[in-house]
Amino acid sequence: MRNDIAPAREAPGWRDEPAVGGPGVRLAGLMADAHPPGRAPPPERGPALRRLEPRDRSLSARAALAGLDLREQAPEDRPYVVANMVSSLDGRASIAGATSALGDEADAALFAALRERVDAILAGTATLRADRYRALARSPESRARRRAAGLAERPLAVVISRSGSVPLDIGLFQDPGSEVVLYTGARGLGGPVPAGVDVVRLGPGRQSPAEALADLRRRRGVRLLLCEGGPTLLGALVAEGLVDELFVTIAPTIVGGVEPQILGRAAVRGPRPAELIWALEHRGSLMLRYRLDAWPESPISD
Ligand SMILES: NC(=O)c1ccc[n+]([C@@H]2O[C@H](COP(=O)([O-])OP(=O)(O)OC[C@H]3O[C@@H](n4cnc5c(N)ncnc54)[C@H](OP(=O)(O)O)[C@@H]3O)[C@@H](O)[C@H]2O)c1
Repeated sequence: MRNDIAPAREAPGWRDEPAVGGPGVRLAGLMADAHPPGRAPPPERGPALRRLEPRDRSLSARAALAGLDLREQAPEDRPYVVANMVSSLDGRASIAGATSALGDEADAALFAALRERVDAILAGTATLRADRYRALARSPESRARRRAAGLAERPLAVVISRSGSVPLDIGLFQDPGSEVVLYTGARGLGGPVPAGVDVVRLGPGRQSPAEALADLRRRRGVRLLLCEGGPTLLGALVAEGLVDELFVTIAPTIVGGVEPQILGRAAVRGPRPAELIWALEHRGSLMLRYRLDAWPESPISD
């Protein structure tokens, strides 16, 4: 993560908080709209994004998400689910097994801003392992913004592992401030860790992400869930019709080779329509937000 955890797509120079007014960074035009007349808006840091759709002025990543209350969209039986991925022009999710070379600083800023707005963050075990996830919302500023938005100081971390093979050595599990829910087919965690881990056993026939999402909504009150990939887990969620919105950054790069595509090899039935909600641009990278339409019938194809 460009995250408070270890960034999947950490950009050079990225820190928990966007860098102080670096070269080429413009202050967000829309920030002024969000503040009462006569009061100067607080200085906003980080890269300036150009909004292409709908047409408007430049804005910061945090301003792009200001006022977005997707928690209200949560259905009764699961959280509202948004996914955030970075893709090359040819749809690849990594370069040499890592995403750090794909995302730029604006993608990282949007990634961090999204994290500040959700109740919980879901990532696959291979992503946790590859990107060495650290504890979420480690910076006091990030926790303060979450509090101000009426959210828990730290988002809940959610892991789904059928095998139970989870990288317990990563910072996420080694930080006593972390709160993790692990859905697994295995009988236990495989050892004590400093983090608070709620192990929920999903028995045979119940090891679908839908079971985990239903439990998150019912038992943990999660209304807005951010899925950060990787491709295998996201593909499974999309195949089951469990993703409401896709935030995808298109990096101006062709990768080729054998790198996975952003939905992996999931049996996703298509074509499936998606509605463009916005398009932001920063130095040739496009940050697109799409709403995925409901499946007309059963979404799974084998
Ligand atoms: N481009 C991006 O935005 C982006 C984002 C994240 C990651 N990545 C990259 O993607 C790579 C890792 O991706 P990945 O696809 O191998 O792994 P992944 O999706 O992160 O993790 C796959 C694992 O998740 C678990 N899982 C739980 N429920 C599942 C289900 N219903 N279907 C499938 N898997 C389920 C399984 O763990 P068990 O085997 O324990 O059952 C599976 O092996 C890394 O190189 C990472 O850097 C890219």
